[in-house]
Amino acid sequence: MSGQAQMPPMIDWAALEQAARKARANAHAPYSGFPVGAAVLADGSIHAGCNVENASYPVGLCAERAALAAAVAAGARGIEAVLVVAGRPTSPCGMCRQALAEFGAAVPVRLVGDEGAIETDLAVLLPTPFLSGDLCR
Ligand code: THU
Repeated sequence: MSGQAQMPPMIDWAALEQAARKARANAHAPYSGFPVGAAVLADGSIHAGCNVENASYPVGLCAERAALAAAVAAGARGIEAVLVVAGRPTSPCGMCRQALAEFGAAVPVRLVGDEGAIETDLAVLLPTPFLSGDLCR
């Protein structure tokens, strides 16, 4: 122990928001009319995604899992921050919370809308995720 306080990593929220907004512009949301963009900071790099809806409604994909899939496909694993942008601050759905929790614990999450943002944390959004260790009990 050095006795020195551990500083949280610096997160470039503006860069995350820019990436999420760019992805949101490509959202395929003709059924809900609710385009969403998301960006994750993973192993130091930014990966973005948008919601991709489908005429068969349950097939639709949320922006958060699209961003997460982009990160994993690029070889990144450790999620350090998540940003979601929509018309109003939009909380990740339960499925996306669980998907994100596989790759990060107390990850800061920023929910951005047209008129402001909300700061939260993945551990607050999903305090008891199902994790790999739960498979062995
Ligand atoms: N959606 C997301 O992509 N992320 C969220 O955090 C909430 C909801 C999408 C799913 C669907 O395409 C549309 O928003 C309306 O639910």
